[in-house]
Order: sequence, then structure tokens, then C-alpha cells
Amino acid sequence: MIFKNILKLIFNPRFLPQKLRNRKVLGIETSCDDTASAIVCENGQILGEHSISQQEVVLRYGGIMPTIARDLHEINIEKVVDKTLQNANLTMNDVDAIAVTTKPGLIMSLMVGTKYAKHLSKKYKKPLLPIHHMEAHALTARLVYKNIQYPFTTFLISGGHCLIAVVHSVNRYSLLGKSIDDAPGEAFDKLARRLKLHNLSKYRSLSGGAVVEDLAKNGNPLAFNIPEPLLQYPNCNFSFSGIKSYVTNIISKEELKFDILGDNILPNADDICASFQYIITKHLCRRLQRALEFVDLKKLLPDKNRILIVSGGAASNNYFRHAFKIICDEVGYKLFVPPPKFCTDNGIMIAWNGIEKLKTNIGIYNYTELDSIYPMSQSELGTDITNDVQCANIKCKWIKLTELQTR
Ligand code: KG4
Ligand code: ZN
Repeated sequence: MIFKNILKLIFNPRFLPQKLRNRKVLGIETSCDDTASAIVCENGQILGEHSISQQEVVLRYGGIMPTIARDLHEINIEKVVDKTLQNANLTMNDVDAIAVTTKPGLIMSLMVGTKYAKHLSKKYKKPLLPIHHMEAHALTARLVYKNIQYPFTTFLISGGHCLIAVVHSVNRYSLLGKSIDDAPGEAFDKLARRLKLHNLSKYRSLSGGAVVEDLAKNGNPLAFNIPEPLLQYPNCNFSFSGIKSYVTNIISKEELKFDILGDNILPNADDICASFQYIITKHLCRRLQRALEFVDLKKLLPDKNRILIVSGGAASNNYFRHAFKIICDEVGYKLFVPPPKFCTDNGIMIAWNGIEKLKTNIGIYNYTELDSIYPMSQSELGTDITNDVQCANIKCKWIKLTELQTR
């Protein structure tokens, strides 16, 4: 018995030198409306995860209500972390560090995760790793596809963001383009709401993006001619608010034409969705093409790293994926889009970013020095070089996207 206990002590992973141990990080994500956590190992193995979505509440209120989101995070956070540990068959003592999203996002939501992570860090004397939500989205692909090496380009499209960046290393990013107003996922959500698509029972629990994409499959992308934004600006910034207003006007006119009242839905909602999705896709592709041409011009990536990683909730859209593939094939890039489970907000990406930081010894805070960690609602990703892109004044020869008009 004594001999067995001595052996157990010798081979306890906690007493092994760092190099031999497969360290484990608990990741916590509460930046928006999902309370999520996961435990991931240094070798990329996902040991456990759990999340509670607020999607139903969001649909009921017609959008995210920050105070309600905060209250639900507060109710769920302990449950989610406990379930994650249970799923992994581990206790907090087995975890080597805690990673938590501290920026950017809804401040009241970020506060809940940050506070709980700090509490765990102090209680179990574990180091804390503050995580930038967008960096985590960008790095997830390195967990999913093990052979992706730095540097690479990333395109992040979600309900809160739209940006293109070069990822040089775990903590060095160059921002090539960003949205000057809304985000694509948000625009899809608003269109679904304006068209009252959640009144259709099959769409009741789906995100606006998923609903619009599904309905667009039956529509004609050229049914309505919606102007493409920012065409005259030779940069790779994005804008969605003009498209949104234009489509809202179309809907009002069509509702009058078809005498649509109350909860009824326009008979040509599929055409509106298809035209809207087409113009957004075209806009995303034009900006992406210029960004990749800028990367080439400035030699920001070595030839062997001509890689584009697309992530964020809106990366689940198959029409987008198909269009990005056309662009990447044409300019000689390899396209990687992680499965939807890794693209939407999740705890795995936070834990994995924690692992990446732990491995490179970057941004690790001891449990005695947590006062300098606080949540921030706004935070740019890396160094903003969007002006350099504009100054390069690249006139692109547009890659043909006619294939998209018949899908
Ligand atoms: O990354 P995510 O889970 O949360 C944010 O950080 O925003 O993304 C959620 C967003 C929502 O706006 C949702 O409508 C959008 O991603 N989305 C889509 C699709 N599926 C989800 N947008 C376009 N097409 C889709 N298929
Ligand atoms: Zn996100």
C-alpha cells in the first residue's frame, strides 16, 4: 500500500517537469450571450466542455439585453464550469491555469466571467491568462488543424465583428481591415427580425444568420439590386449599415405591395434574403481580395504560408465559404474554416489561446497579481494598418463571382 502511494506520488503529473507534462487550461467565455467553458490540454485534446446559450431569451426579446445577459451569466457560470470539470473527470486541482475572455465584448457580461475566473485563480492558487476574444477566434484553427504555422491571415466574421488581419504570432497581429459600422451576423439577425422569419416554426430556435441563409437557398440573388458599399474606397474596411437600410426600404415597399399585415410574412422573403446575402458576400469578397493582394505586395507572408483562416459565428454560412474558396483558389491561398462548433463563441477557443500563451510564456498572471486584470468592452486587434492599405491604393482586377448568382 505504502509502495503504491509512493509510486502514485512520483507519477503524479503535477510533480513532473513542465516539459513532460501535458498541461491543462480551463477556459471561460462570457463576452456576449453564451456562458461557455472548456478544459484543453497542451497537445490539443479537449477534455471537457459545457455551455449554456441565451439564444432563446435573445429571440424572445428581439436582441441581446445587456442586463439580462449579465444576470443569466451570473446564474449559469458556476454550473457551466462545474459541468465542464465533471465532463473532463477532473477537479480544479488538476488544472494548470485559467484563461478568461476579458475583451472586447459586453462589459457587464465580461465582468461576470472575469470575476469568477479571478475567484477560482485565488482559491486554487492557479495562474490567470486574460484573453482577447478575437485573438481566440483567430487561433482556434491551430487547434483544429494541427499543422497551421504562424504567420497566416485571418478573416473574422461574427455578430459583433468583421475584420481581416495578419496573425504574426500568438500576440502579434496586423489589422488590415475592419467594419466601420455593424457586423455581418448582426445584419443577418436584423433582417430575419424585420422579415419576422422566427414566426415560422422551423426557424423558431435558429440564429438570424442561419435562418436567412436557409431561406436564401430558394431565392434569386439578383431579384433585388442592392448597391455595394465602399466601392470608391481602396481599402479593405467593411460597412453593412447602408445595405441594411436599403433592404429595410425594399421590405416596406414590398409589404405595401403585397398588403402584408401583422405576423404575416412576405411571399418573396426568399428573394430578399438571397439578394441580401449575395451583396454581403460580394462585399466581403472584394475587401478580402484587396487584403490578400496587400499581403502579397508588402510580402507579409512567406510563400509556404499562403493561408486564410475564416472564423466567427458567420463563418458557418456555406454560401460565404463557397465564395471565399473562389477567392482563395484564384489568388493561390489555402482556405481553412473550422467546423461551426469551433467558429461560434465557445470555451474551447479561450482554453486553447491560454495554452498558446502558456507555451510561449506570454501574458501569465500569478494569482497574487490579479488587480491589473479588468474587462474592456472595446479593444482593437493588434496594430491597425488599415491606413497603410488605403495608401497602397490597390486597384484590383475583380475575381469573377458569377457562380454566386445561380446558387
Ligand atoms: O461568433 P458568434 O457566436 O458570436 C459573436 O461573437 O457575435 O456569432 C454569432 C453570429 C450571429 O449574429 C449569427 O446570426 C451569425 O453569427 N451567424 C450567421 C450564420 N450562422 C450564425 N451569419 C450568417 N450566416 C450564417 N449561416
Ligand atoms: Zn465571437
